[in-house]
Amino acid sequence: MDSILVRGNGPLSGQIPIAGAKNACLALMPATLLSEEPLTLTNAPRLSDIRTMTQLLASLGAEVTALQEGKVLATSCHGEINPRADYDIVRKMRASNLVLGPLLARLGHAVVSLPGGCAIGARPMDIHIDALAALGAEIELKEGYLHANARGGLKGAVHEMRFASVGATENFLMAATLAKGTSVLKNAAREPEIVDLARCLRAMGAQIEGEGTAEITIQGVDRLHGATHPVVTDRIELGTYMLAPAICGGEVECLGGRIELVESFCEKLDAAGIAVEETARGLKVKRKNGRIRAVDVVTEPFPGFPTDLQAQMMALLCTAEGTSILEERIFENRFMHAPELARMGARIEVHGGVAKVHGVARLKGARVMATDLRASVSLILAGLAAEGETVVSRVYHLDRGYERVEEKLRAVGAQIERVKGE
Ligand code: UD1
Repeated sequence: MDSILVRGNGPLSGQIPIAGAKNACLALMPATLLSEEPLTLTNAPRLSDIRTMTQLLASLGAEVTALQEGKVLATSCHGEINPRADYDIVRKMRASNLVLGPLLARLGHAVVSLPGGCAIGARPMDIHIDALAALGAEIELKEGYLHANARGGLKGAVHEMRFASVGATENFLMAATLAKGTSVLKNAAREPEIVDLARCLRAMGAQIEGEGTAEITIQGVDRLHGATHPVVTDRIELGTYMLAPAICGGEVECLGGRIELVESFCEKLDAAGIAVEETARGLKVKRKNGRIRAVDVVTEPFPGFPTDLQAQMMALLCTAEGTSILEERIFENRFMHAPELARMGARIEVHGGVAKVHGVARLKGARVMATDLRASVSLILAGLAAEGETVVSRVYHLDRGYERVEEKLRAVGAQIERVKGE
């Protein structure tokens, strides 16, 4: 297994290109199941999660071409479709559940394995099930698989979700595009990836209004056609790389970044003493004078502070002046990076969903283990701030969501390399 070796670093300088969003792409790819015509996604990131979705769609009968230069991902679903998403693929990645809505809409039935728990929490499917049931689907659990049926097709309906789940909003949105009549989703998630999906579906002929607000209205149509759609910038990769100069000093421009993707995050950076400036090409980030200041953070659905940046923010706050309180409200078990950061000299107390981070002057390099995707990159960021060498093992987590991380950080002067394992 590969690991990443990081050495404590001085100031960084230069530019980092930000890729297309993994989470947007994982929702856009299943939309191919809604049409017989090809869907072409430009700016698709090169990640193992995207390869897993490619495998899943291929198992359902879609043709997905390999990522090419210029990062194009073309998918097509004109042949016979297999309605069964198998456990062997679904268990690898929860986002596999995003084929449920499109399969149901196109075929009137689907059999999709439950994803099971993951390291950061239980992550049930009840909100997805309620949302699709509102459109007329009957859903039963048999031997670990959800069996969904909509005899006579899906019918438009008004539905309010108990929580603004990102995935359930995406499944509802895709299913409702081909339902008969009008659907309204209340308490919908407002993440930029949902806006991106709605734009792509509209380019395919869907009639959607209100994406990016808590109420989305979808007028069902008989069929969708092919389209070409550019994947939105990855706001989590953006926020992660914005923290590199915040931690090491210097100045880095994140190409493709826009404030509106990371507004609540930028407010916290400002309070911690980091300046962010919007340029013609992206966001320029540098540390203001002096030591990082402690700030309190609460994770919330968009436009609140993203849970997917909580671990990386904690890495920054480990060396802040004062005590920061981080409250995780989206996932119940998302502080697994805290004991690893403690191995590097961080002082963190975790009680349930709250972590108290007492800033120390300097972290010290250590061998640490990545436990999930965002935790792994937080350990790399911490390593950049530490004295000496840090070795992060289990980096397969990292490869799920960050393309060429060593290359991108090395280009701005970081000392980081991948050590090949057997
Ligand atoms: C998406 C993102 C993930 C991010 C998360 C929250 C993708 C591929 N992944 O995940 O990176 O961390 O949004 O911003 O886009 N829940 C239920 N029942 C359900 C569905 C969700 O209880 O049916 C709970 C989950 O356990 C979790 C919370 O709701 O505690 C948020 O989940 P959700 O918004 O659905 O996240 P995902 O779409 O899985």
